[in-house]
Amino acid sequence: MNPQVAPRGTAAEVFRNPRLSRSALAEERRRALTPAGTSVMLLPVKASSSPLALVTGATRGIGLAIAEALTAHGLRVVRTGRADLDLERDESVDAFARDFLRAHAELDVLVDNAGASFDGFDADVARRTIQVNVLGTMRLTDALLSKMRPGGRIVMVSSGMGEVSCLAPDLRQAFLDPSLDRAGLVALLERFVDEVRAGTHAKAGFPSNAYRVSKVGLNAYTRILARELASDPRRIAVNAACPGWVRTKMGGPGAPRSPEEGARTPVWLALLPNEPGAPSGGFFRDQQPIAW
Ligand SMILES: NC(=O)c1ccc[n+]([C@@H]2O[C@H](COP(=O)([O-])OP(=O)(O)OC[C@H]3O[C@@H](n4cnc5c(N)ncnc54)[C@H](OP(=O)(O)O)[C@@H]3O)[C@@H](O)[C@H]2O)c1
Repeated sequence: MNPQVAPRGTAAEVFRNPRLSRSALAEERRRALTPAGTSVMLLPVKASSSPLALVTGATRGIGLAIAEALTAHGLRVVRTGRADLDLERDESVDAFARDFLRAHAELDVLVDNAGASFDGFDADVARRTIQVNVLGTMRLTDALLSKMRPGGRIVMVSSGMGEVSCLAPDLRQAFLDPSLDRAGLVALLERFVDEVRAGTHAKAGFPSNAYRVSKVGLNAYTRILARELASDPRRIAVNAACPGWVRTKMGGPGAPRSPEEGARTPVWLALLPNEPGAPSGGFFRDQQPIAW
């Protein structure tokens, strides 16, 4: 973990020492920044009653910028890195969710930002990428769903790399099928890994890029969840965001956007007002809907 950011409000710290966490959060608020180009006024902060957000993958990059922006808007923010929550390991996800639910009665905002892009391309890379970017994220989100408060917001930090246009038409249709459920989605993703192992994925219509398929999968999960939550009286909105190409460890130094710019659309979705007609089940870049 980056030692520069580790001491400030990590999940482990929040669980161990709520007092320390509050002072860390107060310190965050003092130094909080509104992302460039947004003009939302800071809300008055009451540590015990302000909305609670969880941002995964917030040790650096876009997740850190999202966490800072939400803090600036008056939310209490729990941030995680791999040391607190490793999406690659089910036992880590389960332990984190259990501890989180013990420490916090309710959750207002969940930003599923953590993601990985591994070097190379083989069945192991495919399996690990799908595990972190889709299955681990799904496991965490499903575990926390019952504690989401009315008007809660769930944001999946996805990517335009996950547009279904990277798939052959029959696979496109399968991922976009409005009756697709979790089991069907998991089966499609397992099929991808199996096809990569067998060397048949290209013939089957998958790209030779595990990251792309993982974001296709994350977007499909967003739609599944939004469909389920459409009948939930809590009016929870779930949307996916593409941050654009961002200068982070993952995006590299040549990317045109700063992490703060990349955070804008996820933050906008996380702060959607609790009003009828708030978008849910959409995919957004620069606060505009984009094609799946
Ligand atoms: N950068 C871009 O151009 C770009 C474009 C489109 C979409 N995105 C998406 O934006 C999100 C953030 O990306 P970024 O560019 O900010 O990446 P980054 O700088 O590499 O940061 C990734 C974050 O995810 C965490 N993480 C990595 N593997 C994890 C795992 N197995 N379990 C839990 N957390 C894990 C990291 O924690 P540690 O520090 O502990 O490793 C770190 O906090 C990702 O979902 C990415 O796919 C990025």
